[in-house]
Amino acid sequence: MSSTPLAPAWLVEPADANALPASVWSRNARRSAVGELEIAGVSASALVAEFGTPVYVVDEADARGRARGIRESFDREFARVGSSAKVYYAGKAFLCTEVARWVTEAGLNIDVASGGEMAVALAAGVDPARLGLHGNNKSLSEIDRAVGAGVGAIVIDSVVEIERVATAASRHGRTQPVRLRINSGVHASTHEYLATAREDQKFGIPLADAAAAVALIRAQPSLAFLGLHSHIGSQIFESDGFAEAAHRLFALHAELLKDGPVPELNLGGGFGIAYTSVDDPLDIDEIARRFADIVSQGAAQLGIPVPIVAIEPGRAVIGPSTTTLYTVGTIKDVLVSVVEPVETTATRKYVSVDGGMSDNIRPALYAANYSARLANRTSTASPALVRVAGKHCESGDILVHADYLPGDVEPGDLLAIPATGAYGWAMASNYNYLTRPPVVAVLDGAARLIVRGETEADLLSRDVGVTP
Ligand SMILES: Cc1ncc(COP(=O)(O)O)c(C=O)c1O
Repeated sequence: MSSTPLAPAWLVEPADANALPASVWSRNARRSAVGELEIAGVSASALVAEFGTPVYVVDEADARGRARGIRESFDREFARVGSSAKVYYAGKAFLCTEVARWVTEAGLNIDVASGGEMAVALAAGVDPARLGLHGNNKSLSEIDRAVGAGVGAIVIDSVVEIERVATAASRHGRTQPVRLRINSGVHASTHEYLATAREDQKFGIPLADAAAAVALIRAQPSLAFLGLHSHIGSQIFESDGFAEAAHRLFALHAELLKDGPVPELNLGGGFGIAYTSVDDPLDIDEIARRFADIVSQGAAQLGIPVPIVAIEPGRAVIGPSTTTLYTVGTIKDVLVSVVEPVETTATRKYVSVDGGMSDNIRPALYAANYSARLANRTSTASPALVRVAGKHCESGDILVHADYLPGDVEPGDLLAIPATGAYGWAMASNYNYLTRPPVVAVLDGAARLIVRGETEADLLSRDVGVTP
């Protein structure tokens, strides 16, 4: 039970506000002998001395290990049910050439959602046959470049794209493999899925229209139909939503088999990760086991072969690998009125750091929760409830809504926020003309820059009114 009424009900006051719970921190994060945060053998102060703050620090062995682990779990479990799996890394979570190489070396393919993401993967030297292109509104140029490059699969998202992709494929003299994205009506959130209301969204085509769309695809000699695709949401902790989506797609999949091959079924991404110590996502081995059971039992019920299953995890590969380091600038104790359970006042400690919603928009955009720890030292001071804020001109510029830090946190301290690898850098902006931070990979005691930080010269470089 927390001593302040401002603590959210889910937050547990830690016995030690210096501890790094293994479920939240990257695998090679620990406290050094002097109490500093150290990731893959590199101390926070050494990282900050070389790269400044804010800085995204990627634990390379962790990211590579998670990519490999997901691929191995799905390979093993689908072999058990007499089939196989294809794992695509969803590059939208975070893509740069280095990460593209890590995941492909781990045996994954890459799902790209725009011409820009495709350009990064191709610049990394990824075999185009290992790319899948997504998007609910691909431009004609993106389609043309994808087909011309020889991407392995294009996920058709609306009926009008069938002809667009077919025309591009004919122009390039290729047979383009395609999937069809279905809006199954299932949308999974962390703890529940709503079976009806979520048809009201922009992705995919309704289940009821899918058979006709597949007939149109099959009528195009320049297209090869791979199978159906469904993505039900993100940060999902349970398998029920996937089971429901698979169940809905399976009946159609079996129907389509009567008129031609349907080698694959793509169940998308969305596996959840721990952002705080109370998050308890399913272990990847368990997810793979459940997926294999869901798909093999579904196939058995319909008397059809177990399809090759494709999945597209992004967050589960890269999210837990990364920690963002900031410098604390100002601290304010703000008196707040509380109405429940009784009318009172309480003090909230605002700890402001030198980044914010421009390097991690998720807390502001989705009310996502994160956790924080002092990175430069440990402290025996009693834990204090804090809110970590950024430096932007928005009161919603929050990085951590609520966590406990040692009560003697002070300006100049380094603060670390774990699990920022997915949709952090990828969604970063230049709001308030802040420069986007660098991304640094750490491995075996060494740090190296993998994406350089922006400079103010970068910011000015696109403003044509600037005189040299
Ligand atoms: C089609 C598709 N596949 C995969 C993903 C990856 O989701 P996650 O990073 O939650 O695994 C997304 C995320 O939005 C998506 O839209």
